[in-house]
Amino acid sequence: MRIVVSVGGSVLAPTLGENRVEEYAAVVEGLVADGHDVAAVVGGGGVAREYIGAARELGANEIELDGLGIAVTRLNARLLKSALSPELVGPTIPENYDEAAEALHRGDVAVMGGIVPGQTTDTVTAALAEYVEADLLIYATSVNGVYTADPNEDPDAEHFTELTAGELVEIISTLEMAAGSNAPVDLLAAKLIQRAGMHAYVIDGTDPQRVARAVEGDHDGTAVVPE
Ligand code: UTP
Repeated sequence: MRIVVSVGGSVLAPTLGENRVEEYAAVVEGLVADGHDVAAVVGGGGVAREYIGAARELGANEIELDGLGIAVTRLNARLLKSALSPELVGPTIPENYDEAAEALHRGDVAVMGGIVPGQTTDTVTAALAEYVEADLLIYATSVNGVYTADPNEDPDAEHFTELTAGELVEIISTLEMAAGSNAPVDLLAAKLIQRAGMHAYVIDGTDPQRVARAVEGDHDGTAVVPE
């Protein structure tokens, strides 16, 4: 299978000292050993938020802030790349979809961060998955799927086991309307998933083994299915 995985920055490296990055690299290598093509898109996490917060205070505009965010996502991508076996990755981080597709075409693992201002790596992941005609898209986030509300804020939030892409778009639209909301996947990413008719799982990625199991169809997150 061709698999595109989104790994949130705080999921990959909650702190720099942890060996989560190594565990993620081992999972990616295991998927490659099983014959899968793998692309990983890495987020910026807390480090990106800190840089963005500090630069906003200093007067940077939103596009400049996005540029900082992109730089941190690429830094995290380099971190994951450095933990992967050198035979599996090229010397550079793809900076656009063509470069990522070329890496996959060569038989490499594509590891990348953000691309352009005005979006997040959730969207990069969905767009890349559409571009390279991925069989499966996995969002490894800090919650185990999509809920009716943010489960960290609302104890009555209900979990969805399965959603159509259209239902995902509706739920994310509602969640994003709520102030300070923290939707597990961006609205634009949800719309791309809907448009492309892709299969996606939104899972808890704090244990990287869950990603390996999800590829086998074993997960307790949310499965997004084409309409
Ligand atoms: P993330 O993908 O980590 O954003 O990119 P996020 O969703 O805000 O972070 P989490 O998932 O809640 O931890 C970090 C920042 O980098 C910029 C955006 O400013 C984003 O918030 N970015 C990222 C872009 O502008 N373009 C991209 O393609 C990717």
